[in-house]
Amino acid sequence: MIDDLWYKNGIIYCLSVGTYMDADGDGIGDFKGLTRRLDYLHGLGITAIWLMPFQPSPGKDDGYDVADYYGVDPRYGTLGDFVEFTHGCKQRGIRVIIDLVVNHTSDQHPWFKDARSSPDSLYRDWYVWADKKPANADKGMVFPGVQKSTWSHDKEARAWYFHRFYDFQPDLNTSNPLVQAEILKIMGFWIQLGVSGFRMDAVPFVIATKGAKVKKPVEQYDMLRMFREFLQWREGDAIILAEANVLPESDLEYFGDDGDRVHMMFNFQVNQHLFYALASADTRPLAKALKATKPRPASAQWGLFLRNHDELDLGRLTKPQREAVFDAFGPDKSMQLYDRGIRRRLTPMLGGDRRRLELAYSLMFTLPGTPVIRYGDEIGMGDNLQLPERNCARTPMQWSTEPQAGFTNGGKPPLPVISDGPYGYDHVNAAKQRRDPESMLNWTERIIRMRKEVPEVGWGDFQVIAIKDPAILILRYDWRNNSVLFVHNLDEKPREIAFSAGVEGEAGKLLINLLAEDHSHADARGRHTLVIEPYGYRWYRVGGLDYLLRRSDIDTDAGTAKRKRNKAHPG
Ligand code: NOJ
Repeated sequence: MIDDLWYKNGIIYCLSVGTYMDADGDGIGDFKGLTRRLDYLHGLGITAIWLMPFQPSPGKDDGYDVADYYGVDPRYGTLGDFVEFTHGCKQRGIRVIIDLVVNHTSDQHPWFKDARSSPDSLYRDWYVWADKKPANADKGMVFPGVQKSTWSHDKEARAWYFHRFYDFQPDLNTSNPLVQAEILKIMGFWIQLGVSGFRMDAVPFVIATKGAKVKKPVEQYDMLRMFREFLQWREGDAIILAEANVLPESDLEYFGDDGDRVHMMFNFQVNQHLFYALASADTRPLAKALKATKPRPASAQWGLFLRNHDELDLGRLTKPQREAVFDAFGPDKSMQLYDRGIRRRLTPMLGGDRRRLELAYSLMFTLPGTPVIRYGDEIGMGDNLQLPERNCARTPMQWSTEPQAGFTNGGKPPLPVISDGPYGYDHVNAAKQRRDPESMLNWTERIIRMRKEVPEVGWGDFQVIAIKDPAILILRYDWRNNSVLFVHNLDEKPREIAFSAGVEGEAGKLLINLLAEDHSHADARGRHTLVIEPYGYRWYRVGGLDYLLRRSDIDTDAGTAKRKRNKAHPG
């Protein structure tokens, strides 16, 4: 197995151009500003940037309503600025992936305008129409409470059109081969301009059958293979990272049994159970989610995240589990959204408690997958609950104590900079934290550096080490004759625990702490005893620091065989 697939062991940083850095003084972040901040990102150690939509758009869903797939919204700059940006990333060894929003367009897209103008339009069949209001028009809304239906009447078209999301986002008829060909063309275009892949929006809906007669949408998984084949033909190491909040039983349908569909998916299953674990100090459902999402082809990878630009969707938890997370992290109605989630940023959710933040990030960096950080989380930014829906967690990056947090020296930002309270930019900003060795920013930088030195997490096979105490999670990874072991205590109380590393021979008796000096020597029976503080975490290398001398060139360990078995018997 080739061990330099960049996405298998990277650190992805997600940002939106409009709220990152404004260079031209109009108050709106732009590509020039972002390019000037690349040294900051390089210093942080991230290996890839995921850019949220930046194409021309009415901006009614923060750019997820695209009006032209082949351009840059003039507020953010030009295609020239975009290429300067991808070039700047290339110079620094940073990959770029961009959002690919092709489940729907904006209703202002010329295709939709043409399609609605006449039944004979060449674009009519690019969308999904019905003459009469379909029976299920009030079912399947993604934004309950805000979105009223999934079918709306269009006066001009004299027909109903389908929209899985807001009514200004008509669904593309993705089963139409002409639409599919256009999707490939869009990918080809951006690949040519220097991107290394796509975060594909709403994948289950992209591949689902759509239409007034469709009672239960069926996923057309082969479409994913077509996308991948095209991509790999144009650019061998480009990837698709799928946004697909699906149940573990269908994971392999998305990855493809032979790793021939999407390269990466966000692990929503682990995300939700991780928040439950943080809320309840019970890691058992999380361990179950880890095991359930373990089967995957060797070349596939999970995107591991805590918060993103959407609400924290808790829809896959049981009701009591969901209530526990709401109680702990979003008790107020104003903090909740769409009857299923929490819309806050992570730091306020955890009460700004540094111990809990480090614990949460330590988990994100050590669970199986590639971590995906959201801009501003590295400095512990807060949210503004006065802003509607998901906008509360999309405020401009806080760079310094200068006016507007150093984000702009000009006009009005797209959303106000957070200026008051404990998360105001006077207290929380990158410049201040850079000077403080103990800051969140410097902690994040150090943990990223260390994470890069434990490729076992990205590449290896993992085991959850059995321990009776539900507040404790111990994971061991094995790869190429090396093992690493991570211990997390999710409880507010300290713990004394005893465990065996599960590695035979002398190696299993020594655990080298990678972040501090307290190493662990096992007793005669090979058991390690550890006192771990409230919300504590440990990163250990098993056996000693000569691990690079011991690393083998090929996968010979039992883990590989295990992975193969798992593949054959998913779930
Ligand atoms: C998922 C995106 O993450 C979200 O922000 C957006 O509103 C919907 N897809 C629709 O594109």
